Amino acid sequence: MRFDILTIFTGYFDVLGYSLLGKAIEDGKFDVKITDIREYSLDKHRKTDDAPYGGGAGMVMTPDPIVRAIEAVDPNHKARRIYLSPRGSTLNQCKVESLAKEDRILLLCGDYEGIDERVLELCIDEELSIGDYVLTGGELAALVVVNSVARYIDGVLGSSESTSQESFSEGLLEYPQYTRPEEYRGLRVPEVLINGNHKDIENWRQAKSIEITMRRRPDLMAKTDIGKFLPKKPKKRRK
Ligand code: ADE
Repeated sequence: MRFDILTIFTGYFDVLGYSLLGKAIEDGKFDVKITDIREYSLDKHRKTDDAPYGGGAGMVMTPDPIVRAIEAVDPNHKARRIYLSPRGSTLNQCKVESLAKEDRILLLCGDYEGIDERVLELCIDEELSIGDYVLTGGELAALVVVNSVARYIDGVLGSSESTSQESFSEGLLEYPQYTRPEEYRGLRVPEVLINGNHKDIENWRQAKSIEITMRRRPDLMAKTDIGKFLPKKPKKRRK
């Protein structure tokens, strides 16, 4: 998988050098190429923005440097081209999983008051939002997309981490986790996790997931097929 990120603030992406993702990039599990849109400006001051037609506050990113940058990094439109914007459809785990199947993803970050609409018409496949709030630009949103999608790429998570037992993987939030010590400031690790058998632990975790999801995110619960968590009835034997 390869990500191309187009931005005027390349420094935001230095964080990709850290943690699990930094290691995975170093090990060649996936590629990230950051492109500075300013490099594609023909203006002598490398200007990439201008005042909006029709008036209004702030500046709008001009189309030409962006379109030329996109054409340079993805000349044959091989990448899924995404513009990060609060106007887009909202990212969720299901979308993350589907993006993880792409070979190439191009993430365009807009800043100021956004980009000229014609860039979207000419070059962009879809707009994606990371939530119903407004950021100063698309860079943090692009980082969220890279981080969440990369976790599904083979070899990025170690064998001890997994995407199968975490929040949203079954449409539920994750159960609570504990580690040593057994007692901390008067709070004990639930007994079942210390002395329970495998089946009891699994049941406890499932019950906790359901309880937490019902309390905090009833909207998620409504979308979950609760039947799959109920104990299966033993099949009737034919006489
Ligand atoms: N740019 C500004 N706000 C954003 C958001 N919520 N999601 C994606 N891109 C954005």
